[in-house]
Order: sequence, then structure tokens, then C-alpha cells
Amino acid sequence: MPGIAIIGSQWGDEGKGKIIDYLAKNSDLVVRAQGGNNAGHTVVVGDQKYALHLVPSGILNPDAINVIGNGVVIDPQVLLKELSGFEERGVNTSSLKISDKAHIIMPYHKIIDALMEESRGKEDIGTTKKGIGPCYMDKVERIGIRMADLVDEKMFAEKLNFALSRKNDIITKMYGKEALSYEDMYKEYIEYGRKLKKYVTATEFVVNKAIADNKKVLFEGAQGAMLDTDFGTYPYVTSSHPTVGGFLVGAGVNARAIDEVIGITKAYTTRVGKGPFVTEEDNATGDLIRQKGKEFGTTTGRPRRCGWLDLVVIKYTAMLNGYTSIALMLLDVLEGFEELKICVAYSLDGKEITELPSTREELERAIPVYKTVKGFTQEEITEAKTYESLPKEAKEYVQIIEEYVGVPVNIISVGPRRDQTILRKDFF
Ligand code: IMP
Repeated sequence: MPGIAIIGSQWGDEGKGKIIDYLAKNSDLVVRAQGGNNAGHTVVVGDQKYALHLVPSGILNPDAINVIGNGVVIDPQVLLKELSGFEERGVNTSSLKISDKAHIIMPYHKIIDALMEESRGKEDIGTTKKGIGPCYMDKVERIGIRMADLVDEKMFAEKLNFALSRKNDIITKMYGKEALSYEDMYKEYIEYGRKLKKYVTATEFVVNKAIADNKKVLFEGAQGAMLDTDFGTYPYVTSSHPTVGGFLVGAGVNARAIDEVIGITKAYTTRVGKGPFVTEEDNATGDLIRQKGKEFGTTTGRPRRCGWLDLVVIKYTAMLNGYTSIALMLLDVLEGFEELKICVAYSLDGKEITELPSTREELERAIPVYKTVKGFTQEEITEAKTYESLPKEAKEYVQIIEEYVGVPVNIISVGPRRDQTILRKDFF
């Protein structure tokens, strides 16, 4: 049985939620391995809407085990709120397992995230201010507090004391703000630890057992490959690895655990926050895409920057992740445009290139080289049930992607509903 990995192939918000939700229904185990509650998507079941930020999407499948892996950073307040939201609506959360090695987002991480952003002025990253970056900083600095510490009151007292004294130095001496109280934080967090203790375990054993037992394991990615700390548009990136390697380290599995990698690709491009975006249309075209695609953040509500599909980016992230399939999302949003543009190269300092440049400065100078194709205006593509029944121009759009990237587009999404998904291959 396969391990399927879901990767966002652009800057996040590609519509991963729909595919994850679809596959989670048939999965035996669903695992999150990076990021935190900077991610978010909404799952609709019947007339109920569930907002998921930290809990894996398999929570709505009563037969699935759900794992928050060691690579995730956890805000316990957010997680408990999410869990109680499920319980109030009769969703059983007892299948949840949280890694004892996952790091905890503390109040000082959120405060420092905001203070760092403010102090950068015009050079701010545009983070979600959820404390993600500062929490990962502490992990690497080796002063982080892990789930195993949070659920052990004595250990937690020691670790908090050590970490908070350093953080208060930063908050007071560097930013001139008031120190945070140890007592208040201890009392609040120890309560979170008590409530979460029953879920905490060494999840790498759980995930590896499922793989050894030939179970269907879904690796649920958050964000997108272009936000990867190493390969994304640094420094405008997140602090984790939303690439396939992030699953190995963040869930504790080996390279043979994943057989299928689905690159979730929006039919156009969006990004939130700052950073280079070669195909951005900061004009009426971008406004139209935003309005048609309802491109506003699920987690922050921020309007997303919009532009044309960039195949230089998709080919790059396909190489990094080894996509075996592409899921082309929101194709219906492009309906009605007379012409569509697809970026097939960049012009950089007078030279045409197809390999993504490494620096922000080069990306800012890069000019997109477009292939212009006819749009699909007449037919209604939202009701298409098969690839064959798509308008000719839409099929050509798909073929251009397949040929350029060298990966089959095996899923095409033509609307938000479950039945608006064209599958050209069976997965689970
Ligand atoms: P952080 O992850 O909050 O540190 O934010 C770093 C960058 O990643 C910012 O540009 C965010 O807007 C972006 N980002 C973080 N999470 C997501 C996501 O789930 N979708 C899209 N962008 C994200």
C-alpha cells in the first residue's frame, strides 16, 4: 500500500485541503510533519464546516489514526480549541497522536514574531505572526520546549525557567518591552499539558508500524515548496521544509515510505506576504483572478497576490520533490479570460533562463517570458466530469503543463465540490 505525499507546488494555498480531505477518507493514517497553525483549510462535511489548522484531516474519518509529527510546531491553545470544536460536534478525537518531540509555541514566540516583524520595517517578511519562526529558532538553538516537557510538570518548570529568562532579556533589553511573568505562563501551560497528555507518544513508531503493516499513509503537507527555508524565495519563506524531505525528518520515516508524490498546483499563481513573484499581475487582471478565485487567506484573511501560472516554478519544485502526479486546482477560475498566459522562462539581464534563480535580487529582476494561449470562454467547465469533456482549450492548457514539467496531470479540480474533481488515476 502506498504512502502518498501531498506537496504544495507554489507558495501555499494551492487547494491542498480538497485533495487531502478526499484522500484522508480512505487513509489508515494521516500525518502532518511540518509547519504549525500558520496553515489552515476548511473541510465541509454535510452541512458542517470544520476549520483545520493543526489537526490532520483524517480526524473526520473515524477509522483513521491522525498524527501530529515531531516536525510540527504546536500552539497548545490553538490545538485544544480545535479539538474541543470537534468534540462539541460529536467528532471523536481519540485517534489523535502527538509527537513527544514536537516543539511548543510559547507566548514569547508570538510576541517576538511580531516584534521582529515590526523592527524590520519595510523589510518585514509578512509572517502570520503565529510564532512559527521563533519557535523553530529555539528548536535549532536547542532551548525549545517539547511536548514531552510540557506534559511533565517538573521538567516543564525547569525548561520554562531557562527559556523564559533568555526570552525576557530579548523582550526587555532589545525591544524595550515588559518582561513576561513566569507564574502566569506556567499555570496556563501546565493546564494545557494536562489536557494534551493522553495524546502524546513517540509517533515515529506509530507511523513506521503503519507503513510496515502496509497501511495507507497520507503525508499531509502544509504551505508550499516555494516557502521552503532552503529552496523557497529566501528570506521570504516559512521556517520549515514544505518539501518531500520535510516529511522524512518531520515524521521520522525513511525515503522508501513514500511512493506517490502529488504536487498540488493552482492553475494560476498566488502568494501571501512579501517576496518576489515573477508572474504577479498587480493590476486589473490580478484583481479579477482574486475575485473569481476568492483569494483571501483562510488563516489571516489577507488578500492574496495573484498572477499567471509559472512553469519555471512548477518544474523546479517537481525536481525537488519528485512529483509522480500533478493535481491541477481551480481550473474553473480561469474560465472567461480571452487569453491565458503561461510563464515558460525568465528573461534575466537579457538572457533567457528556465532554471529558477537563487536570490531574491535576481528574482526581482526576472521578467516572465510567456506563452499566450486562447482561453476557454464558451463551455461551462465546472460541470465537466471527465477529461475528455473539458473544453479543447482547457485540455491544451493541461497538456502544456504536462509536457513542460514532464509529470502527468492526474487530478483536475473544476470547482469546490467533491464531485467537481476529475480523476485520471486511482490513488488509494
Ligand atoms: P510564517 O510561516 O508565519 O513565519 O510566515 C512566513 C511566510 O510564509 C509569510 O509570507 C506567510 O504569509 C507565508 N505562509 C505561512 N504559512 C502559509 C500558508 O499556509 N499559506 C500561504 N503562505 C503561508
